[in-house]
Amino acid sequence: MAARRRADALIAAGKVRLNGTVVRTLGAVVGEGDRVEIEGRAVEPPACATYLMLNKPVGVVTTMRDPQGRRTIADLVPRRRGVFPVGRLDYDTGGLLLLTDDGELAHRLLHPRFGVEKTYRAEIAGRLSSEDVHRLSRGLLVDGFRAAPAKVRVVGARADRSTVEVTIHEGRNRQVRRMFERLGHPVLALTRTRFGPLKLGTLSWGASRELTAGERAALRRDRRPPPKAPRTK
Ligand code: URA
Repeated sequence: MAARRRADALIAAGKVRLNGTVVRTLGAVVGEGDRVEIEGRAVEPPACATYLMLNKPVGVVTTMRDPQGRRTIADLVPRRRGVFPVGRLDYDTGGLLLLTDDGELAHRLLHPRFGVEKTYRAEIAGRLSSEDVHRLSRGLLVDGFRAAPAKVRVVGARADRSTVEVTIHEGRNRQVRRMFERLGHPVLALTRTRFGPLKLGTLSWGASRELTAGERAALRRDRRPPPKAPRTK
């Protein structure tokens, strides 16, 4: 009905009602079945957008078409017009990938300003020292850029390999692999287990499902500002 600024102005002027009540807060969440009116006229909801969660297997490219003829995520999801991946996972990374035809939401989820958190489970070579954990959680200089502070949890450690859960809110190319490489612990396998409020759960490799109404509402609410990286070496 209106671009965001004008929509905010309409709300501030008390011209928007949600289920008959004047909306007083910007960012009020509207769900299925809610009735929205602007200046007394009902707003028709847009044709329902599609939101799919895919557990991307390793060895699949995060595009809908591949000129080199490799297996793509389009081979794994039910055919839906206009659906595209929100961000990407490397060919050799598996796990949670969101697909949608909702361009506005995708743009917001990918915008660095909103700092959507992503959690990865990394199998790495060797064991992390407490200094390594400290460096990851302080923000690490990687190939000329400073990665923002990561949340790190060592899930299991043996002499030759460890399992580490790492949460970042940036999305640079091969970022998690490069962070561990920088510390001298190459990544042996990488799986994304969380994207903002979405959790991979028990969805099996290559399987996809529609998001629930609760997950869709949570995605719209997830707008935490990112933490600031401290200035360190
Ligand atoms: N970090 C990586 O290194 N690879 C991915 O696919 C995602 C994050």
